[in-house]
Amino acid sequence: MKTHTIGQLCLIVFGAMILVGCNANANGIPYEDSKKVEQGMAVYEANCAGCHGVNLEGQPNWQTRDAGGYLPAPPHDETGHTWHHSDQMLFEMTKYGPQKFAGADYKSAMPPYEGMLTDSEIWNVLAYIKSKWPEAIRARHTKAFLK
Ligand code: HEC
Repeated sequence: MKTHTIGQLCLIVFGAMILVGCNANANGIPYEDSKKVEQGMAVYEANCAGCHGVNLEGQPNWQTRDAGGYLPAPPHDETGHTWHHSDQMLFEMTKYGPQKFAGADYKSAMPPYEGMLTDSEIWNVLAYIKSKWPEAIRARHTKAFLK
């Protein structure tokens, strides 16, 4: 009877792990894994650098909307606000686009990457971005959202 209960418990835990594994990442952005950071760098250069800048510097006047109502791409370095957002929010922003948070009518140049990048490619590109922040900013981000 007891073993049976433990077996059932294991199944529940295992099932939950599979569900979570679908797109959440229990440990957050894997910025301490150098292999993932390296893979993320390639994803960044191929997909993000064109707008967010090769050095994560963003586009000029990124806080001012243009005549068409679009914002330029913000920096992903410590001068921007990427590090103010949780791991999960950054993931969803990249996967589904800003409309996920700002509403379907929101005008944005930022494309959703669902179907273009896999979930692990998205986590890896965020790992690359986080790996570029100064140590103090990385620590603040980790403390705010993971601890
Ligand atoms: C065509 C230009 C373009 C490309 C390519 C692009 N972005 Fe963006 N991104 C933007 C713009 C513009 C915003 C500002 C969102 C808005 O319109 O309010 C943004 C915002 C973001 C944000 C939210 C940042 C914050 O501080 O709130 C994240 C995260 C992000 N982009 C990640 C990425 C990643 C990762 C890639 C590559 C896989 C990428 N972007 C590719 C234009 C782009």
